[in-house]
Amino acid sequence: MMFPQMRMRRLRTSQKMRDLVAETRLDPAELVLPLFFDANITEPKTTDSMPGVVTYPLSGYDIIAKEIEDAGVSSVLVFGVPAKKDAKGCDAYADDGVVQKAIRGLKAASDLLVIADLCMCEYTDHGHCGILGVDGAVDNDKTLEYYKKIAVSQAAAGADMIAPSGMMDGQIAAIRQALDEAGFDEVPIMAYSAKFYSAYYGPFRDVACSAPGKGNRAGYQMPCGNRKEAMREIDLDVAEGCDIIMVKPAGPYLDIIRDAANTYDLPIAAYQVSGEYAMMKAAAKNGWIDEERIMMESLLGIKRAGADIIITYYAKEAARLLRDRR
Ligand code: PBG
Ligand code: ZN
Repeated sequence: MMFPQMRMRRLRTSQKMRDLVAETRLDPAELVLPLFFDANITEPKTTDSMPGVVTYPLSGYDIIAKEIEDAGVSSVLVFGVPAKKDAKGCDAYADDGVVQKAIRGLKAASDLLVIADLCMCEYTDHGHCGILGVDGAVDNDKTLEYYKKIAVSQAAAGADMIAPSGMMDGQIAAIRQALDEAGFDEVPIMAYSAKFYSAYYGPFRDVACSAPGKGNRAGYQMPCGNRKEAMREIDLDVAEGCDIIMVKPAGPYLDIIRDAANTYDLPIAAYQVSGEYAMMKAAAKNGWIDEERIMMESLLGIKRAGADIIITYYAKEAARLLRDRR
């Protein structure tokens, strides 16, 4: 049937009608909020390039958790800024390291699902995601030994899931083995499988104080234009035993999310990163876009592309909005 008998607008006549035929819906249960803790501060602090994102001290966990849970968010991804950085990133695997303390605090004070980002760039004085070799490049295999220690210390602190973000080869197998050997066989791994070498991480590095001093991350993160390579990265992580696949960033890589959703049966996470968030915030502040609509549209696009889980700095705002719309 064709126009004028067929009219697409019939199903757009009211909000109820549009809701009835909605193909994609967002649910607060699938949102994950990144959370930053800094061992050097005693009061919460903010960062200019990430409006609305608060870095917390290692105290007041009940208040922090209550605000998140009241908004309707139940999962967080924790990052830490340590008191002291060194070449080997010791604080990353210390029993009383910043992130281990934060995990213990959050677990004791709340029912939040706590996911631990596993990397070394916040903990090393050179700012790279692993241990440097004599040539000044990250030594992949040496780094794996440290990743194992970090994973076990995070699980011992009570992390519900480990999320390795360093893009070292073999990291999933190494971490899985270390967790299993330490008795944490029920702790799943969310793999940052297809993590691109992206300029969209800029604001995160302001918050996490994790920019590399010399050089960049092009030697381990993925080239931006490579789709087939992303599938190979995911293939390997699946073979090594990851439980959830992640694509990162999200917005500029929707095709990768869709490819992954079409190819794999594992849950797919997408990380709407700091630069994506900061750009929306900046435009909204100038009155150039409608922030609420842009926020929901960007998240809906990520979901429509195939993501089951969305990590976003907008998690609280989006969850509140979804609840209020009910
Ligand atoms: C650590 C890590 C980064 C992000 C998540 N984990 C930064 C980086 O790789 O430089 C980026 C998150 C964001 O930009 O929001 N490796
Ligand atoms: Zn890193």
